[in-house]
Amino acid sequence: MPPNITDPPIERDPEIVFNATEKSNQPPLPSSAAKDGYKLNIFQLSLNQLAHILIGMTVGVMLLFALRNGLPLGATPQHVILCVLGYHLLMAQAILSLSPHNGWSSRMKLVHRRRVHWILQVLGSGLALAGCFIKILDKDVHWDTLHGRFALVSMVFTSVSMVNGLASLYANELRGLRLPPSLSKLTHICFGIVGFAAASITLCYGLDKAQFRNWATDNFTTAIIIFVATFTTIIIVNPFITFFNKGRGLFRNN
Ligand code: HEM
Repeated sequence: MPPNITDPPIERDPEIVFNATEKSNQPPLPSSAAKDGYKLNIFQLSLNQLAHILIGMTVGVMLLFALRNGLPLGATPQHVILCVLGYHLLMAQAILSLSPHNGWSSRMKLVHRRRVHWILQVLGSGLALAGCFIKILDKDVHWDTLHGRFALVSMVFTSVSMVNGLASLYANELRGLRLPPSLSKLTHICFGIVGFAAASITLCYGLDKAQFRNWATDNFTTAIIIFVATFTTIIIVNPFITFFNKGRGLFRNN
């Protein structure tokens, strides 16, 4: 056999592999339960893949829109680029990185996933807040539109979630202050979900502006709004479940 040819790996039934890897320290599931678990797993992996595709298309379209008049960029295109890259590329990936169904991070050790999460979170929040402040400085009257008001909500919750994230990162060290670690984690998840959802609503109001609609046409604008709503729902489902599970655990322990 030539040196670069090795025996092909033996194909194993994915249901058996799923049953063995996911529940390795428990007795094997009965076949029907394994089948359901396997199907749910494939469904969640597919949703995760769909979210990545929709994020890519949305961010791509927003970059094309912002760069349509070429350089130098005015305040609004700079604002759009920074907010969309910050919130809907980096922060979206930061949240997805902790999901067990996320393609690029699922094989990482938990400690590395957490590191990637906070690095993406800090970078994303930094870009997004910079984009918001560029537009705030460009305007004379503030918070007079729904776009601006939802942006304010997202800015506040994103900032609080960042501070709170630090408390979650050092949750064990903060035990001395008698703060239950799961409390800082719970509030971090909650503020993160609200901040990200508010950013997506802000983006939808941004897409609804005449300058975007005139460039993209009404039907295409509706399609992008549906993309944003779909990937936002997929992204926040997992933290939502974690939030309720941790919340139940906190109340049970008290
Ligand atoms: C996640 C995305 C976005 C965020 C977080 C965001 C945030 C903000 C903020 C903080 C302001 C200033 C509000 C004020 O001072 O009253 C603003 C204003 C503005 N943004 Fe955005 N924006 C986003 C996306 C967009 C998009 C996609 C467009 C254009 C298509 C856009 C166009 C504008 C315009 C024209 C204004 C000035 C008018 C107004 O306040 O409604 N933004 N945005």
